[in-house]
Amino acid sequence: TKPSEVTPAILMKSYACQRRTPLKHHNSVLTDALEILALNAEFTKNEGRSVAFRRAASVLKALPRGVRTMDDLKDLPCLGEHSLRVIKEILDAGTSSEVEWTRQSEQFQAMKALTGVFGVGVRTADRWFREGLRNHLDLIHKSQKLNRAQEAGVQYYNDLNTPVTKKEAMVITVIVEKAVNDVLPGAIITLTGGFRRGKEVGHDVDFLITHPDEGAEEKLMPKIVNWLEDQGLLLYQKTTRNSYLENKDGPARPACNMDRFERCFSIFKLERSKLDSDTRIEDSSYNSGVTDGTQTHSGSTWRAVRVDLVVSPYSQFAFATLGWTGSKLFERELRRWAGQEKGMSLSSHALYDSKQQRYLPANSEEEIFTLLGLEYIPPSERNA
Ligand code: GTP
Ligand code: MN
Ligand code: MN
Repeated sequence: TKPSEVTPAILMKSYACQRRTPLKHHNSVLTDALEILALNAEFTKNEGRSVAFRRAASVLKALPRGVRTMDDLKDLPCLGEHSLRVIKEILDAGTSSEVEWTRQSEQFQAMKALTGVFGVGVRTADRWFREGLRNHLDLIHKSQKLNRAQEAGVQYYNDLNTPVTKKEAMVITVIVEKAVNDVLPGAIITLTGGFRRGKEVGHDVDFLITHPDEGAEEKLMPKIVNWLEDQGLLLYQKTTRNSYLENKDGPARPACNMDRFERCFSIFKLERSKLDSDTRIEDSSYNSGVTDGTQTHSGSTWRAVRVDLVVSPYSQFAFATLGWTGSKLFERELRRWAGQEKGMSLSSHALYDSKQQRYLPANSEEEIFTLLGLEYIPPSERNA
């Protein structure tokens, strides 16, 4: 080989928050396979294994070109023995037997179907699977006892499993802006989550709300919810009040990544007439009424959309924005970087420096990256 033909070695940093990960990449056959195994590990409550597969997939997403031979993977971090075996099988044979077997397995399919119901987590799905339930229809037919969220999850199952388009997200943004500005003029509304990262579709629409006057945002959520309910825009909502107290909770990272902001998990009733006619989906499955007994309404004038609303005090807004933009792996890696490499503790509320024993304030995401000693990664390249 002439020197000019040698592909230059790729310098791949080992934390996802040190890398740029675009939405569209060159290795989706491999990353889809690894993410099936990650999901399956999650379903079997094997968190460590799941994260390992997700990190491996994420490294492949950051590569500037498609992997063709095992040589292309030389010197890349986060690729464990198991991931390498799966990749090799796919490069050699086109598919991985383990991935295909997993994909087809009754447990994987049932867990995917059951956790696909809003309000159902891995723990519940696993219990139901062991009781013989396999999908959302079994929940109705076997008259399973459901909580309020799960009831809504079953009722709006088809809509909630229809990806939310960017257009729909924009229509909902207009509604949320109107609601928030009506109850608190001067409030700031930011679209977070996948849409902020440039995704074309999402499973929900995420918003972060704040106000420049610290304290003005207190108890804001019930007012927003009332406004939306008065307009008949909510099919379901569960509001949780703010429970973050800097001194009481201390710097310790919460055990789970749930934060303590005032928040609302909701299901919006989105009028189709609010969408431009050219983007109207003529597909008859689109809210076409009763097909399998889960959707109680008929006609196609509206559809159900999951919306997450979070209210943050202005002083925590930068941390909340960073924390709610994702991706989930990017967030996890940011916190791991902070803890393992910097002796700091990062949450969606604050950054605490253990050595200096003090909180490090920040007014923007850029400042937080700087405080963490990281190069700034814009939202569109946080698709780790
Ligand atoms: P899709 O909605 O599936 O398109 O992707 P998404 O990236 O928007 O996912 P999701 O809406 O589930 O979450 C958006 C971001 O908010 C992710 O980065 C999550 O880590 C974060 N997030 C979700 N729930 C919580 C939570 O309870 N606490 C904190 N701190 N972050 C959360
Ligand atoms: Mn989202
Ligand atoms: Mn969300």
